Amino acid sequence: MDTRLLFQDPAGLTTPMLAVFAVDVAIGKDADALVALLTTSDAISNAAATVLASGEFKATLGEQLLLHAPNGLKAERLLVVGLGKAKTLSIDEVRKGAGTAVRSAKPRGVREMAIAFPEDHALDDEHLENLPCTLLSRSIVEGAEVGELDWDTYRSDRKDRSVQVLTIVARESEEATKKEIQIGFEEGRIVAEAQNFARALVNEPGNVLTPTELGKRSKAMCGEVGLKCEVHSTEKLLELGMGAFHAVAKGSYEPPSLIVMTYEPKLEKGKSLPKDAPVLGLVGKGITFDTGGISIKPADGMDKMKYDMAGAAAMIGAMRAIAQLKPAVKVIGIVCSAENMPSGRAYKPGDVLTAMSGKTIEVLNTDAEGRLVLADGLHYAKTLGCTHLINAATLTGACVVALGMINAGLFSNDEAAFESFLTAMKTSGEKFWRLPCTDDYKDQIKSQIADIMNTGGTRWGGAISAAMFLKEFAGDTPWVHLDIAGCAWNEELKPWLAKGPSGIAVRSIVEWARGYSA
Ligand code: BES
Ligand code: ZN
Ligand code: ZN
Repeated sequence: MDTRLLFQDPAGLTTPMLAVFAVDVAIGKDADALVALLTTSDAISNAAATVLASGEFKATLGEQLLLHAPNGLKAERLLVVGLGKAKTLSIDEVRKGAGTAVRSAKPRGVREMAIAFPEDHALDDEHLENLPCTLLSRSIVEGAEVGELDWDTYRSDRKDRSVQVLTIVARESEEATKKEIQIGFEEGRIVAEAQNFARALVNEPGNVLTPTELGKRSKAMCGEVGLKCEVHSTEKLLELGMGAFHAVAKGSYEPPSLIVMTYEPKLEKGKSLPKDAPVLGLVGKGITFDTGGISIKPADGMDKMKYDMAGAAAMIGAMRAIAQLKPAVKVIGIVCSAENMPSGRAYKPGDVLTAMSGKTIEVLNTDAEGRLVLADGLHYAKTLGCTHLINAATLTGACVVALGMINAGLFSNDEAAFESFLTAMKTSGEKFWRLPCTDDYKDQIKSQIADIMNTGGTRWGGAISAAMFLKEFAGDTPWVHLDIAGCAWNEELKPWLAKGPSGIAVRSIVEWARGYSA
């Protein structure tokens, strides 16, 4: 989709479809809806006045109302999109509203459309005060570009209904405001493209996206945006002593990939980062298919395990955006990619592995493979000089049991790194909920014969056992662990988002990294 920004009166824009946002300004739980449009254009308000007066449209989130040949407007159609209650309006609703607008155009065969930039002074008391212009325009682009995609490229009877041109149309305003809107627009485009890049990787089936293919695609992406990228395989794993990662990989015919992407900020001439400047390590679980290995998973739903590389995709996507947003901080992206298969060469329950850090691990279940590959990835990141670590992984079913599919799990060994992530979440709008990983839980991964074991002794607190395992390898380095098992795949079609890969964590990780910019 070609997304553009235009400063002019939306009422005078010639377009097949103009979308405008609406909120419910009624106060009180049982009050009838009172709809207000987020525009100061009288022409738009007049065009929608009769139908809004009917009370049929309540402006609930995702609700849509379409008028053809709206009176007094140049647009062929006026689409009113509900954002819910004005009182609870946040950037999240704006993002969803933009996605809804674009997804509403697609089945109608509308190829070009416009979204009117929301104006807070359209309301009596300025509800949008806490929604700065930069964030508003950024969210509209993100919501629209992420909402636009459908995962039908493998269908031979596919009818391409993509929206080809989207114009965000904001009224002429002060130069300072224009600049803010422009900045948000550019950032939104970069971040949304990165998120869609990650989603497209997750959408690929396991037979197409092998660890080798993931390496190839990462390398191609890095070439396009100017990142250094190295892709290693079995030999390097053995050379580095990555006994945990290698054990997972060895059951498969497909060789593993250790992908290392490096972003070095280019500073102004004569300037350099201080010696103690942070170096960020972004580590992703890239299991391109998880059968469970010898501890094989039940057949039911196993097909979904092609998305077990969503953590890796998030890191690859984040690196893409970081390369384009250019924060003044060094960032290293590390992806540990393998296929977890049962075979005559596969690792087995009872095996004892030696990780790169030297720690020994007793394998109780070969389906707890994500933590094994990440253990070596996290330690490797430290040897490359990373001072702050973040990892993302579809790590445990237990995390889905604990938090459902609305919040992803978050664990951290460091309050400052956690606070930075909370700040990032305010911009990203993604939902993560912190769970504990204090040393009280250490016994959960105590092994009879090795330093640690790869599952909890009981089934209780499984997401925490996994986090405790990873914490052993983060050590004293500030670390944030994101367990995205429940949120990486959108199970239900939403008015603003297709079913399938969500691209979760890309936006938050990018913001987290920018938070360390000098
Ligand atoms: N990839 C799975 C986790 C997962 C489960 C992701 C469900 C998405 C949905 C992971 O490798 C796994 O199998 N974990 C096991 C760990 C157990 C054996 C300790 C699990 O969660 O059951
Ligand atoms: Zn598994
Ligand atoms: Zn897995």
